[in-house]
Amino acid sequence: MSISEEMYLHYHGLIVPKETHSYESLEFAQGFKFEDDDVLAVTYPKSGTIWMQEILPLVLNGGDLTPIHTIPNWERVPWLEEKQLARVVDKLASPRALVSHFPYNLMPPSFCTSKAKVIYVMRNPKDIMVSSYYFHQMAGFLEDPGTFDEFMDKFLEGKVMFGKWTDHMKSWRNSELGDRIMYITYEEMAQVKHFQSEHCSFKSMQNNNMSNFSLIPKVYMDSDKSPFLRKVSIAGDWKNHFSSEQLTRFTSVISKELEGESFSLPWSLD
Ligand code: A3P
Repeated sequence: MSISEEMYLHYHGLIVPKETHSYESLEFAQGFKFEDDDVLAVTYPKSGTIWMQEILPLVLNGGDLTPIHTIPNWERVPWLEEKQLARVVDKLASPRALVSHFPYNLMPPSFCTSKAKVIYVMRNPKDIMVSSYYFHQMAGFLEDPGTFDEFMDKFLEGKVMFGKWTDHMKSWRNSELGDRIMYITYEEMAQVKHFQSEHCSFKSMQNNNMSNFSLIPKVYMDSDKSPFLRKVSIAGDWKNHFSSEQLTRFTSVISKELEGESFSLPWSLD
């Protein structure tokens, strides 16, 4: 299965969308100077990134609603690796909050020498795949996903942005960052009342133009095809999409790739 050279850049074995990334932005990320009080939320795409872009400014600013109501999420908590960062970096107030889809091995040198904290958000990979399938339908800057079955192959082979989910997970789970890293799951976040408060609930984010990507022209993100915030946080939407054959295929590939790892998954794969 080939990858669209028109839409993606290759970077250290990963593919990333050209619309949002450039070699300059990826190099800018490598030269980025982390401060000790920075907070970085790291996710594999579709694991709850924009939810963190809502939660972090609220937590870091004592519940002040101004940032989430006045600044688009990609500027208020920018992606480390995306083009936007260079434009907004000087406007970020300390303590700064950022997000990233980088695997651990691509983190810049200054991250390793700083004391910046990381929140690694994990989500059941079956639900990630479903979420990503719909995202590829609505995002004009991503390759058409093909059928659900074809997309499953791409996902399992890592021929999607930021590569294989298992590689991403392994890199961060084995990062040995001690108390600099906190692991949390999307499913846990969905159960924490605080994260479902009036200002960071699915519903309020769905209605917040600074968070629902409605400011982005339809040619890039078309919510008529599928909204970015697709479904009220019900874990397990995969059950509405996977056939039993697909479940067996998915589970066997993922389990094999995690064989021998010292950590266990917070969800059952089957
Ligand atoms: P679905 O496509 O399953 O609806 P990311 O931000 O990493 O791209 O992840 C997007 C996924 O997170 C989408 O999942 C989106 O609906 C979900 N999400 C975003 N904010 C949420 C919230 N407040 N509560 C529950 N899910 C949320």
